[in-house]
Amino acid sequence: MDTLLAKVDAENPSINKEIIAKAADIIKNGGLVAFPTETVYGLGGNALDAQAAMKIYAAKGRPSDNPLIVHISDISQLYPLVDGVSEKAEALINAFWPGPLTLIFKKKDIVPPETSGGLDTVAVRYPENKVAKAFISACGVPIAAPSANTSGKPSPTRASHVAYDMDGRIDMIIDGGSCEFGLESTIVDTTCDPPCLLRPGAVTLGMMKELIGDMTVDKAVVSALKEGEKPKAPGMKYTHYSPKADITIVKGDLDKVEKYILEQADKGKAEGHKVGIIATVQTEDSYKGHNVLVIGDREHPETIAANLFKMLRKCDFLGFEKVYVEYFDEDELGMAIMNRLKKAAGYDVVVL
Ligand code: TXA
Ligand code: MG
Repeated sequence: MDTLLAKVDAENPSINKEIIAKAADIIKNGGLVAFPTETVYGLGGNALDAQAAMKIYAAKGRPSDNPLIVHISDISQLYPLVDGVSEKAEALINAFWPGPLTLIFKKKDIVPPETSGGLDTVAVRYPENKVAKAFISACGVPIAAPSANTSGKPSPTRASHVAYDMDGRIDMIIDGGSCEFGLESTIVDTTCDPPCLLRPGAVTLGMMKELIGDMTVDKAVVSALKEGEKPKAPGMKYTHYSPKADITIVKGDLDKVEKYILEQADKGKAEGHKVGIIATVQTEDSYKGHNVLVIGDREHPETIAANLFKMLRKCDFLGFEKVYVEYFDEDELGMAIMNRLKKAAGYDVVVL
């Protein structure tokens, strides 16, 4: 299959009406289109069409028991999909939609089991990205979309990442530039009380608790699950986000962390390994003579979130065998950053 790649103006997608119309046609005919959102790129198909959902699983190489998120472009599209919206869900919707927050509800029969991975619940998200909104609204149906990466790879935050993974496997990629947040949406199960955080993201636990009070946090968010334990979001069980390199996170006082990483990198290099270091603007100068990728600024965690998946992809691109990453504090956005990093590292954290 030839994959069409077309650019759409990120700020003013209506300039590129024909491209959006072409993408919507593909969806109406049961095809697949990758599109930008403010979190990561999604791989979209008609959420109400079981065949389209099956195609998504096939293109990603993803197990079909891992449910898809259903994307809408207007709040009125929510109610036909779900069986009940709790008061707390309503409050979260009012505060954070459109935006990087996915909510889980009991589903109605109109949502096929293929889309919901066989569960009786459905995940719904109303993205804020202008291209996403224009595309979903032109389709006239809710759009099922997982992140547009090959299963197990870091989520794509650029159209070029999508093309690398999906060229020849899907009908079209809409290039709307780079994604603002760079980490997948926060996921909250609203079918229980208190609601439960299943995946941390840019809408943080603190922001939500301030609004709705107590919340629980699924175990899979902060630590590796033990044999036989199941996460509430089926997708959280997979080793995700992993580049080919063996990643180690180093935690402790920053000066100790720098010293340890430098020693290990010197040693690795002397043994003939290709070693990479993921550092920050605060620490990059400490690792002179090594392969350093600067992920962002510790004073502005949003820069680290926005670059994380790009850096993990770059590790593969540059052929690193061993990568050391500095630890980040796990509060607020740091919780989402460390959740993805720990998974990428297979929970290999050295504590100094
Ligand atoms: O930011 C995002 O959420 C991106 C963009 C494209 O919207 N999408 C995304 O989708 O990250 P995906 O498929 O890569 O991750 C969806 C996660 C998976 O871990 C899945 O198991 C979980 O959401 N999920 C979906 N439906 C669920 C449900 N009904 N109950 C529990 N978890 C669910
Ligand atoms: Mg994903």
